[in-house]
Amino acid sequence: MTAALHIHQLNKHFANGKQALRDINLTVQRGEMVALIGASGSGKSTLLRHVAGLVVADAASDSRIEVDGCCVQQGGRIHRDIRKVRSQVGFVFQQFNLVDRLPVLMNVLVGLLHRTPWWRGWLRMFKPQERALALEALSRVGIAECHAQRASTLSGGQQQRAAIARTLVQGAKVVLADEPIASLDPESSRKVMDILARINREDRCTVIVSLHQVDVAIKYCPRVVALHHGQVVYDGPSAALTPALLRGLYGVQADEILAEAPPLHPVAAPAAAPVPQWAPALAQAA
Ligand SMILES: Nc1ncnc2c1ncn2[C@@H]1O[C@H](COP(=O)(O)OP(=O)(O)OP(=O)(O)O)[C@@H](O)[C@H]1O
Ligand SMILES: [Mg+2]
Repeated sequence: MTAALHIHQLNKHFANGKQALRDINLTVQRGEMVALIGASGSGKSTLLRHVAGLVVADAASDSRIEVDGCCVQQGGRIHRDIRKVRSQVGFVFQQFNLVDRLPVLMNVLVGLLHRTPWWRGWLRMFKPQERALALEALSRVGIAECHAQRASTLSGGQQQRAAIARTLVQGAKVVLADEPIASLDPESSRKVMDILARINREDRCTVIVSLHQVDVAIKYCPRVVALHHGQVVYDGPSAALTPALLRGLYGVQADEILAEAPPLHPVAAPAAAPVPQWAPALAQAA
């Protein structure tokens, strides 16, 4: 079966010489819910942005990223069929990325623009059945009653739910969520994570979510990929994360994180099978 995401040998240097990603090789199967964790600056957003085709990998490399078998980019060049792939990838941003002055319903309908003639989108001429689809998506995320409000008048949690409704309307097969709960209170965070988990379960949507909160990652995501200085240093079951690994990832902040996380195994369970390069990478960083 074709994987939802396949990343081969991804490296990224920015123009200032900073290497943000190193030799990333990652496969995510359809229907998985994966947490991407790591300290600030470890490369989580950069990785997700490469998958969405918003950033290109190093030129003339043998990197390749595929979503659902379709090429997003190869060797530092965006594939010419990127529009088709982008329609399958929903991106949920930390800061929601809604158009503040537009009604919530219109923001959700933006998810349909990839399959709507430009002039209909431009004139905001959506068909009744398209509006019904957007309303249904808003109702699934629990904010149908807000459909006529301007996006700017919603709370942060409601705005994030509207952003998720937009990806539902888009019909995305893969949802990339970049710290979707970073600016939310605990109750709104729980609702947003519950919705992502429901989309994953009910729609068989593959969800890759970057998180600072390790306790949330463990609660919602069976699999965790941890980045450290742009490298994958752990890829395995969230249940097998160890305090030692978290200390290597987060340094002095680890104790704070461990206080919030459920009790972890003192050593990795045998099934954890961390990727081979993690131990040297963390040893180097120590
Ligand atoms: N456009 C850019 N130009 C130069 N360096 C960049 C650029 N974007 C990101 N970086 C650098 O790449 C590294 C990875 O950044 P990234 O935003 O992916 O980290 P992150 O894990 O998402 O961090 P956070 O948890 O704070 O969101 C950082 O060192 C960052 O400074
Ligand atoms: Mg980030």
